[in-house]
Amino acid sequence: MKHILVVGNGLAGMTAAIRAAELGCNVTVVSKSEPARSQSVMAGGGINAALNTKGENDSIFEHAEDTIKAGVYLADEKAVEEMTSSAPSLVEGLAKRGVVFDRDGDGNINLRYFGGQKKMRTAYAKSGIGKQLVSGLSSELRRKEAEGLVVSRISLRFVSPVMHEGRCIGAVFQKDDGSFEAIKADAVIAASGGMGGIFDRHTGSALSDGSVTASLFVKGAEAANLEMIQYHPTTIETPSKNILVTEAARGEGGRLFTMRDGKRWYFMEEWYPEGKNLMPRDIVSRSIHKVCMDGFGLDGKYQVGLELETLPKDTVYRKLMEVSELSKKYLGIDAGKESIPVVPAIHYFMGGLYVDRFHRTTLKGVYAAGECACQYHGANRLGGNSTLGAIYGGRVAAET
Ligand code: FUM
Repeated sequence: MKHILVVGNGLAGMTAAIRAAELGCNVTVVSKSEPARSQSVMAGGGINAALNTKGENDSIFEHAEDTIKAGVYLADEKAVEEMTSSAPSLVEGLAKRGVVFDRDGDGNINLRYFGGQKKMRTAYAKSGIGKQLVSGLSSELRRKEAEGLVVSRISLRFVSPVMHEGRCIGAVFQKDDGSFEAIKADAVIAASGGMGGIFDRHTGSALSDGSVTASLFVKGAEAANLEMIQYHPTTIETPSKNILVTEAARGEGGRLFTMRDGKRWYFMEEWYPEGKNLMPRDIVSRSIHKVCMDGFGLDGKYQVGLELETLPKDTVYRKLMEVSELSKKYLGIDAGKESIPVVPAIHYFMGGLYVDRFHRTTLKGVYAAGECACQYHGANRLGGNSTLGAIYGGRVAAET
């Protein structure tokens, strides 16, 4: 029986482990901490799939087209098409595994508008999609552990792959007490997330520091598109980090503004009458930057306002429950009454370890999936495609 070593236990790592176990492999999943502390838990928006549950006449082709266009034609188009084709069945499979999506009165999965997408395509959970996905996949992983197919290990820090005659045969980890442990494997799947932790201000987990990517790179794994770093346009600044205010807030009708001549100036609506507040993230972030650099930052600061207080109260407090709770908790602002000051911050790394369509890196025996891999997002990722790319990529890596 083959032994697969998975490094990372977020969405990509758990999916890879579950799929490899389903295919009859023995799996060891290694991480610094529990799945509940992975960055995946923080995903606030949703997961994209052309589900067509709302009569929106969507298609897997339009999903692929929007993804490729937003990525400025740098993504692997064939890989994107395969991902968008698999997305509907993948989301339905997650629902069958116990992931709770928001649904309408007839039981259909509800969808939202997200930036850069022509159709409503983002399935979500009011209480936070990341928590739902991680808890659904964690339960499945536990079942595989109970069947004796998966062993989960935590408090181990990846140090280096072990190469023998040009092929990876395992990896070395460091324990909390400073000692080292080598784990032998027939293949290693890196699912170690992005690199937000190397920056001062970002929306992710400080544990995602790119160290696995760096170590594999040093051993010869190629990397690609590393300069493509996504700024999320709407985050709340706190003394220690930036908290994501989901794009869903604008998908549900939230408007960005600043003050000019004593009146609210909805600059995105003036500059981009078609896409308005839901232009792709790079455009919205650059627009906020321009407004602030031109001296129009809200209250004289580097920030603009997110207006939710004009939306129906049910939208603010129920559909956008996470946003209203976060603004209360971090700013003491009741989003149903006052606008939320927001700033762009580093959010996602489109680039990473170079992988082909089968998620093979250029190091023999090493595969990569999720944010540590470069594959589906080109120069700019669409909201709702990271959760999809991580789960789909984890599955493909395991199958390969
Ligand atoms: O805005 C958001 O909810 C972020 C989603 C994502 O990065 O996919």
